[in-house]
Amino acid sequence: MQVVQGEVVAGAMQAARDRRADAAGGAGDQGDGTVRVMRDLARLCWSLSPHDDPDARRPAAPDPLAQQHSETLAAHIRAEIAASAGAIPFSRFMELCLYAPGFGYYSAGSTKFGAAGDFVTAPEQGRLFAATASGVLAIALQALGPHARVLELGGGSGAFAEVALKRLLQLDALPDRYAILEPSADLRERQREHLARTLTPPVFDLVEWLDRPFEDDWDGVLFANEVIDALPTPRFTLRDGEVFEEHVALDGEGRFIRVDRPADALLAAAVRHVEQATGTPFADGYRSELLPQLPYWVQAVAGGLRSGAMLFLDYGYPRREYYLPQRSDGTLRAFYRQHMHEDVLRWPGLQDLTASVDFTALAEAGTGAGFDLTGYCSQGQLPARQRHRPPARRRRGTYRRGRGDAPAPGAQAADPAGADGRALPGDGLCPRYRPGRGVPAR
Ligand SMILES: C[S@@+](CC[C@H](N)C(=O)[O-])C[C@H]1O[C@@H](n2cnc3c(N)ncnc32)[C@H](O)[C@@H]1O
Repeated sequence: MQVVQGEVVAGAMQAARDRRADAAGGAGDQGDGTVRVMRDLARLCWSLSPHDDPDARRPAAPDPLAQQHSETLAAHIRAEIAASAGAIPFSRFMELCLYAPGFGYYSAGSTKFGAAGDFVTAPEQGRLFAATASGVLAIALQALGPHARVLELGGGSGAFAEVALKRLLQLDALPDRYAILEPSADLRERQREHLARTLTPPVFDLVEWLDRPFEDDWDGVLFANEVIDALPTPRFTLRDGEVFEEHVALDGEGRFIRVDRPADALLAAAVRHVEQATGTPFADGYRSELLPQLPYWVQAVAGGLRSGAMLFLDYGYPRREYYLPQRSDGTLRAFYRQHMHEDVLRWPGLQDLTASVDFTALAEAGTGAGFDLTGYCSQGQLPARQRHRPPARRRRGTYRRGRGDAPAPGAQAADPAGADGRALPGDGLCPRYRPGRGVPAR
């Protein structure tokens, strides 16, 4: 299992994706000095843009058709709120906004990726990212043999799969099957069209779309770029020392508002686990995100993966930096027409909602599912630090904590970031992470 931090690749947009997180200050910076310089440069480009008036930079309101679309989804959400004693968890609101069939942001037909959409991901910015990442996939596939498979989660526009398959062909490392697990029917169709157009038939024939993870035992590589940040996330807050969960309710005029309700046992235990792991109780009023279901999700998507690797690339921080006291309103943000803002309740279905990833929690989830953490690094370091290592055989049947057991919900799991949370082990693929200084430059 490898975990890779997202970073600014180029351009103002990628910098904008990080901006809220940056508000917590230098200690919370993701990545190394190069990244910081690039980010500052990008910010500079942003601020020197011809649209220097902040009002001029605001995107135009959605057109009437889009507003109607959003209002239909909003009416559906209002009905669910009314049927749920007046409030639904924020995670459910986010799930409906992103994935409600036919109306959610990812389920409906809007352009999401690239300049004409709302945000840019690394595979959309050129071939380098996918070509580099597929070098990592190739190492594992070649070591595993011709029966090995690739499972890509959340294929986006299909841009990654196209470049990856072409690169794997060049490297003589084509998988037996290249499966895409994509919950959005609209994106599946786009991926199918894109790959049918850009791949030659024998390579295209390797691609399939799954409704659920592989159900049989399999060997190969699971790959996910910017998927975990798109998982509907619970939000928690503290009041008089008690854990509350953020919900969405309606005001007297039917507008969405945030309210807090006592957290259930799963979320409360997960929050206490973070406090214990960081050694710092959250202050009253502190608010952030947490995915208590992540261990089950990782277990589910890996399915019967026996030998191989999982490679996750995303935005985020190790736990100690994720929950810095200064980051007191979390990392949740919305993207609309290349514009980042914090009004996540606005325009359901028309804007992307995302929260950064707690990489320590992800590493815990992977080790809990029986994997070894083989690396943790910034995206920029991935190509230079590839090593020709055989993929690991998943530890099986050892379900005791510290030996690869699935953590109980919110349990006091062994922290792969180390007891003091100062290092997320990188075992040679990457140097150790140093809090506040980012991943050291080579
Ligand atoms: C921000 S997009 C990233 C797309 C693509 N990986 C890229 O980098 O351009 C998030 C993707 O994750 C997908 N997704 C969301 N939840 C998922 C899940 N539980 N399993 C698999 N894919 C999921 C979305 O439908 C979407 O394709």
